[in-house]
Amino acid sequence: MKIEKFVPKHILDITPYSLDADFPKNLSKKYTRLSLNENLIVERDFILNLISSSLNEIDPRLYPEPHGKIAVRAISKFLNIDESNIFIGNGLDDVLERISRVFITTGTKVAIIEPTFAIYSYYIELCNGVKVPIMLKDNFELDIDRTLKVCENGVKLLFLCSPNSPTGNQFDEKDVNEILSKFNGITIIDETYSDFGRYSVCKWLDDFENLIVLKSFSKAYGLAGVRIGYMLANKNIVDIMKKSVHPFNVNSISQRVVETVLEKYKYFKENIDYLKTERERLKKDLQGISGVTVYPSDTNFILFRVDKRITSLELQSKLKDMGMIIKDRGTLPLLENCLRMTIGTKAMNSNLINALKTILEINGKI
Ligand SMILES: Cc1ncc(COP(=O)(O)O)c(C=O)c1O
Repeated sequence: MKIEKFVPKHILDITPYSLDADFPKNLSKKYTRLSLNENLIVERDFILNLISSSLNEIDPRLYPEPHGKIAVRAISKFLNIDESNIFIGNGLDDVLERISRVFITTGTKVAIIEPTFAIYSYYIELCNGVKVPIMLKDNFELDIDRTLKVCENGVKLLFLCSPNSPTGNQFDEKDVNEILSKFNGITIIDETYSDFGRYSVCKWLDDFENLIVLKSFSKAYGLAGVRIGYMLANKNIVDIMKKSVHPFNVNSISQRVVETVLEKYKYFKENIDYLKTERERLKKDLQGISGVTVYPSDTNFILFRVDKRITSLELQSKLKDMGMIIKDRGTLPLLENCLRMTIGTKAMNSNLINALKTILEINGKI
């Protein structure tokens, strides 16, 4: 039987989202993964203790509170934002999928800036929307005139990742405000990395009824494996989002973990401050390697370029042979020969710097 004939063509056309490079098959070898922007600086034991104490609060025989009510209440108290403005999901990827399923149907025009987080394109394809790419300027800032002009042409939704992955910069605040003021569609600002950045657009939630802000617990709070992400938006949008989701989308453990983690914010804030200091040190060390150009970062990762005597793909592969995984981004527009590395512990970062020096020297290429 030809199963394909039962599947819509746009689904058959999708290239599955692959993380093969980040999850190597050779598990007997120990790798340090600095490719997925996980938080390796928060202590594992600290997080495990928080999770253990959260476990005492739950009864796994019972269904969780619908729509992540416990977590929503904790976030509301923490941010001083009404519960009716919060929609929570099983990781931000899940919230992004929900948004896509609610707002995108066959032919919906959705603008994304390039280069950016790949999952937006993936969900646009999944929902059979039409991707409208808008290139960043060479300095990775928004091209306001072009963005607004392109969006005038029937674009319903605009994804802005700020701070942006993989470029690492948070867009100029005035530019973002200008887009919000002038674009008539829905603007989704993904602030997964804003805890490491310079500002948050949350302060504008009351000013723009078409603004959706996205947040994740995977980065600043070191909870990538627990899976919690959320959206902030006006009540109208949140109510519509709730139509699209089954009521038990956030499990009891995750809900309690959010509550416990936010009570310990001081610890995480100190971690964020430490990461920013380490970011400066790492930047300097990378800049000290000849042939390497480092870009400014408002995130927990750093983007750098190597000169053409070695390709970014070759460098990624050599680092992998030495047990270190970072992300080749060299095939993306504007990012020829660029790689992205997560800021790890001081020891991990130093190992990476040493490995880079070794590879580049041994190669005699740079
Ligand atoms: C820009 C951006 N948005 C969203 C996500 C997904 O976050 P989560 O782990 O909460 O699904 C990531 C993950 O790396 C990301 O980089």
